[in-house]
Amino acid sequence: MSLYEVIPSHPVRPGDRGLLPVVGEELRVPLVGGGEVRYANLDQAATAPALAAVAERVTRILPYYGSVHRGAGLPSQVSTALYEAARGTVARFVGAREDDAVLFTRNTTDALNLLASCVPDRAGDVVFLDSEHHANLLPWRGRAHRSVTIGDTLEETLRRLRLAVARRRTALVAVTGASNVTGELLPIAEIVAIAREVGARVVVDAAQLAPHRRFSLSELGADYVVLSGHKLYAPYGAGVLIGRTDWLDAGTPYLAGGGAVRDVRSDGVDWTDGPARHEAGTPNLLGAVAIAAACEALDALEPGALEGHERALRERTIAGLAAIDGVTLHRIWPDSDGAIGVVTFSVDGWSPEHVAAYLSAEHGIGVRDGRFCAHQLVARLGAVHGALRASFGVASRREDADRLVNAIASLVATGTRWEYAPVDGAIVPTADDRALPQWLGVDVGATSGASPCAAAAVARAA
Ligand code: ALA
Repeated sequence: MSLYEVIPSHPVRPGDRGLLPVVGEELRVPLVGGGEVRYANLDQAATAPALAAVAERVTRILPYYGSVHRGAGLPSQVSTALYEAARGTVARFVGAREDDAVLFTRNTTDALNLLASCVPDRAGDVVFLDSEHHANLLPWRGRAHRSVTIGDTLEETLRRLRLAVARRRTALVAVTGASNVTGELLPIAEIVAIAREVGARVVVDAAQLAPHRRFSLSELGADYVVLSGHKLYAPYGAGVLIGRTDWLDAGTPYLAGGGAVRDVRSDGVDWTDGPARHEAGTPNLLGAVAIAAACEALDALEPGALEGHERALRERTIAGLAAIDGVTLHRIWPDSDGAIGVVTFSVDGWSPEHVAAYLSAEHGIGVRDGRFCAHQLVARLGAVHGALRASFGVASRREDADRLVNAIASLVATGTRWEYAPVDGAIVPTADDRALPQWLGVDVGATSGASPCAAAAVARAA
């Protein structure tokens, strides 16, 4: 079978099995006190499982794995061709312009730091909303910038943004496509129009948007887009920065090293241009191929299938949680229009980390708790101790949503079945008897401090 043959996409699956298969979708996890259940992964906004199509593609090319741009052997040539072809696939997925650069990075944070290093000082400030997550906030603080305090409505927030970009010279507006805290969608086309009024560019942080919504960079009129493979069902260590070449080709190379140069002498260096300028070191072939495979698989879904799938799960969860006394659902703006598959909430009388530990230990459900790398926004939402976030993906099931709602209802009605205690700053089940397979060679407590008794349990199980 040819290496270059297109692997057929998996058909949309009937029933309650999600849209696309992912690796580990039938993973079974132990519960405290005994028994096990299928893991309900409701933490996909943090990191998503690999699509089966992605894992298959990676496994298939591994025999040809070789050094990208650095060898005459056939594997090296195949690897170089696959790596370069991946740029085109990702560019098509985000609707890039013909002449946009596609750079592989480690993740969104890396891509935004790279772009921050290339925005010319003379072009003006970078402007962003203070609701951004840290990856789209901290990189800009190292240069001239303005942070806009969001308003109580989206309309008021856009008014403040328009005033801010007009106040001083603005080079770039940096905005997320969807909030990582609440999933709410930002009106990118409107924000591009605001930026254009003053001749500024726009970078869209699509870390949360790309896995959940189709969009086109060129149709939106934005200048750059960044995303992470690990949130796009391609957890092989790569991310992407796509956009206009001029700032990138003029910027000081982000990483100094081999591959980024034309010529090195004892008294100087000529940096190359194009993507290689910012991709020093041996490129991450598997990361790039994995992202391209994920883009192909998501591209092959029926238009609207992804949105419909997540909307149904989100609405089901919101309806279920809203009916429970003492549950508060969080959102940023009453007038925002739509959201990706994220539901953020708090439970009266229970700390988020206690609830998260309970969901994991007693129900085999994974959610994220805390401040979601967006401390300013979470403080503004009034969730002083953080909140809980359930997030869906292509393989999420109605059953997952229902299990979460039932578990929260049971918590509010009768409390936890198990005892929990603070250990090393985390809330963990006491006498945690959940055993992991011995072959993993790890125990939960040893890695996170979250399950101090797991080591003993694993030893007992052995
Ligand atoms: N930004 C990632 C999240 O929202 C880490 O969980």
